[in-house]
Amino acid sequence: MNIAILGGTGKEGAGLATRWALAGHSIIIGSRDAARAHDKAVELRERTHKLTIVGHDNAEAAALGDVVVVALPHTGLSATLPPTRQACRGKIVISTVVPLTFGGPRLFTPPPAGSAAEEVQALLPESKVVAAFHHIAAHELAEAEHPIECDLLMCGADADAKAVVTELGRSMGLRSIDVGPLTNAGPVEGITALLATINRRYKLKNSGIQITGLPD
Ligand SMILES: NC(=O)c1ccc[n+]([C@@H]2O[C@H](COP(=O)([O-])OP(=O)(O)OC[C@H]3O[C@@H](n4cnc5c(N)ncnc54)[C@H](OP(=O)(O)O)[C@@H]3O)[C@@H](O)[C@H]2O)c1
Repeated sequence: MNIAILGGTGKEGAGLATRWALAGHSIIIGSRDAARAHDKAVELRERTHKLTIVGHDNAEAAALGDVVVVALPHTGLSATLPPTRQACRGKIVISTVVPLTFGGPRLFTPPPAGSAAEEVQALLPESKVVAAFHHIAAHELAEAEHPIECDLLMCGADADAKAVVTELGRSMGLRSIDVGPLTNAGPVEGITALLATINRRYKLKNSGIQITGLPD
């Protein structure tokens, strides 16, 4: 599958790109700066020994992807997404975005839409937005030789879109758990603030979350 990652030059996007490239997917790294995207693609090709990683500006990346991943800081959504609206029409858009306030404890700071994912849906109304990957730390993704001990919680309105995200999660060894409609994205995003606080409190880089009680 062709996966475009807006903000793919960052830690989370590059980590996802690494895992998916190793799983056999084709990756388009997106950036505000096409040259920066190209440089990151070269770096990731060298790291993964996979040639299926290229870099473009965010709008071109969105046009080339079958699935579009939003791995941007929350503050970047309103400027970055509207120009990609046409390119994202009808596509699955995965939001990894967590609206956090930094400086001291990591505070979940939801936007008026209720969550970053609902804001993404409002900015890309013809897309099928799924909120996912918020609890998979960039640090975990980057250490690609290790399995990730964390469940993938995801929510969204479209069952087929969630089935595709389930497969994308499985391709990097993750168990996906459907936690309902996109209106549950706020609590899902908020868990990341707890994990970030746990990491600071216990001097970790990779606390995660697993759900008990589910059948195998
Ligand atoms: N890091 C993690 O462990 C982690 C875990 C779960 C979820 N997340 C979430 O995933 C998203 C990405 O995280 P990250 O740590 O990769 O973030 P990041 O490194 O701070 O940013 C990702 C990329 O976004 C672009 N960017 C930065 N500011 C921007 C702006 N104002 N407007 C448009 N683009 C901007 C930059 O790319 P260019 O300069 O190349 O355009 C940057 O490389 C965030 O919402 C974060 O909360 C992160």
